[in-house]
Amino acid sequence: MIKLKVNGVNRQFDGDPEMPLLWYLRDDLDLKGAKFGCGMGLCGACTVHLNGKTVRACSTPVSAAANAAITTVEGLSSDGTHPVQVAWQELDVPQCGYCQAGQIMSACALLAKNPKPTDADIDTAMNGNLCRCGTYLRVRAAIHKAAELTASNTTKPATKPVAKTSRAGANLLPRNSGKK
Ligand code: FES
Ligand code: FES
Repeated sequence: MIKLKVNGVNRQFDGDPEMPLLWYLRDDLDLKGAKFGCGMGLCGACTVHLNGKTVRACSTPVSAAANAAITTVEGLSSDGTHPVQVAWQELDVPQCGYCQAGQIMSACALLAKNPKPTDADIDTAMNGNLCRCGTYLRVRAAIHKAAELTASNTTKPATKPVAKTSRAGANLLPRNSGKK
């Protein structure tokens, strides 16, 4: 049996320990924010946090999360008020939305260790998160915006997960806005 914490909730996993963490999150826990893209750790669509650091859930076995804390995009806030979520919404970052949960989780990890990143810092940190819709410039702008929001509201933690299993990231799921 594997014990882990997902979005602040204690969990026990009794299945194959080599099963990809992404399967467990999406199929067992119904947390559909992290997406399956390449399945090879190359696109970043499945990015979640393991003890605060980004991992590709498609190529991370559940066993690697034993006694660890996992945060998915649903765990960032219960109401979409995490600074990164707010910035993403204010700047209309998503296009099809498929890559966006992964983008957001990588952005959160970056801001947690570098509260005021430069363009170069952002480009380096986000290099592994691909977007077939080409939202890269808006992603970069939104990370700067999130840094400003976080700096102006020090009471809100950057990455502390909410202790619930709701699909709070639903407001950041795909939208067909047609915007670039
Ligand atoms: S689906 Fe995991 S990195 Fe592409
Ligand atoms: S793949 Fe990134 S918004 Fe469509």
